[in-house]
Amino acid sequence: MRRILVTGAAGAIGRNLLRGLYAFHRPQDVVAGYNKTPLTGLPEDGLSVQVDVTDKERLGLVVEKYDVGDVYHLSALLSIAAEKNPELARRVNMGGLTNVLDLAKDYDLRVFWPSSIAVFGSTAPKYNTPQDAPLDPEFEYGRNKVAGERLLQQYFNEFGVDARSVRYGGLLGPGKPGPGTTEYAIEMIYAAVKGEPYASPLGPGTALPMTDMRDAVRAAIEIMAAPKERIKIRTSYNLSAMSFTPEQLADEIRKYIPGFELRFKIDELKQRVANSWPYTIGDSFAREHWGWVHSYGLPETVGYMINEIR
Ligand code: SER
Repeated sequence: MRRILVTGAAGAIGRNLLRGLYAFHRPQDVVAGYNKTPLTGLPEDGLSVQVDVTDKERLGLVVEKYDVGDVYHLSALLSIAAEKNPELARRVNMGGLTNVLDLAKDYDLRVFWPSSIAVFGSTAPKYNTPQDAPLDPEFEYGRNKVAGERLLQQYFNEFGVDARSVRYGGLLGPGKPGPGTTEYAIEMIYAAVKGEPYASPLGPGTALPMTDMRDAVRAAIEIMAAPKERIKIRTSYNLSAMSFTPEQLADEIRKYIPGFELRFKIDELKQRVANSWPYTIGDSFAREHWGWVHSYGLPETVGYMINEIR
């Protein structure tokens, strides 16, 4: 079997995806790629490699050396980091993806790449946002995601590259939250477990689509396992599980930590980004085409995270 390469393996999705992949594959068949943050806690036979995805030559050498067949390409800057450093975001988020797709063409690789609800802007319906809603992102991260989706489609149409993608909402799992917008939810749960109050950067009533990390990992593995003919959307599939506001999350946390106190300290940039994104996502195509079913809602996710963090 050709090996699986995960880029961005030290990131939030990467760490969890590795665990999911080890459930189906031998550790020596999965190569965890990291750039600046070396990986810890890999299984004894687990493989890891330092690779900067903007360096196509090095990436190509890794693909050759490890006889890679599938790539889960996760390296990217999140929304707030991208907005603060758009030039770097374009280099990593767009440049990295272009390198991976070019290598996919040359080495016949299959690719998973996460897109995001950030592809939508204020022109899309807020509730149950459909797959084919207008894509008018208002921030750098979303613009990169739209361009990335178009690249996937182009490489499929022109070169037959089998790249598959889902549009994730905020992902909720244990582990240090990155510099994104939806990550406030993870910060809130950590603060609550520590017995501290939490000042939400998003104001009351700000609803955003979210998914339990366990579901997100399963979605990536399942879309890659689906027969090729079932993947009919070659940009990226809307994917949905739950949606909540900061107050709704706080109420759920209080079932475990009754004294938890939610405050508000609005972060102007995060609020503007959140305001431009959908409240809920319509994902009927993912459900119809390749059988997506989510397992976890807000209560299950909060219970799981509190247990894991404790
Ligand atoms: N979690 C991401 C962010 O907020 C959304 O894709 O940046």
